[in-house]
Amino acid sequence: MSEDLFKAARSAMERAYAPYSKFPVGAAIRAEDGQIYVGANIENLSFPQGWCAEPTAIGNMIMGGGRRIVEMAVIAEKLSCCPPCGGCRQKIAEFADRHTRVYLCDEAGVQKTLTMDELLPLAFQTDVIG
Ligand code: THU
Repeated sequence: MSEDLFKAARSAMERAYAPYSKFPVGAAIRAEDGQIYVGANIENLSFPQGWCAEPTAIGNMIMGGGRRIVEMAVIAEKLSCCPPCGGCRQKIAEFADRHTRVYLCDEAGVQKTLTMDELLPLAFQTDVIG
């Protein structure tokens, strides 16, 4: 059920620190441990030092003891169905598989469901590193 994940992402978005872009984003991960981990974007006066909502949620998952992303929701106040940026797709891929569902939301709920394979075809992968 994705409704709880949507609601978690939406309330996480309220915690966004986005004074520069004024573009709050929220993300919520359901991990393999059954927990929901949330995040919002956190910007910085030195603009490149800011980061997206998705890595905040991933950091919370890892530090909370979760290890794998079962499904994930993303929401942005000012953009319906805001897709994770390219860098975030690779970050999500690290903890997901090609079938992992990502829910793109608006203020009313989940509007679009994509798999990681659809979001990041030809993801960087190699056995050389591990
Ligand atoms: N942003 C995210 O949090 N996630 C995305 O996938 C897209 C962009 C944030 C970064 C920045 O704080 C603001 O949205 C505008 O780019």
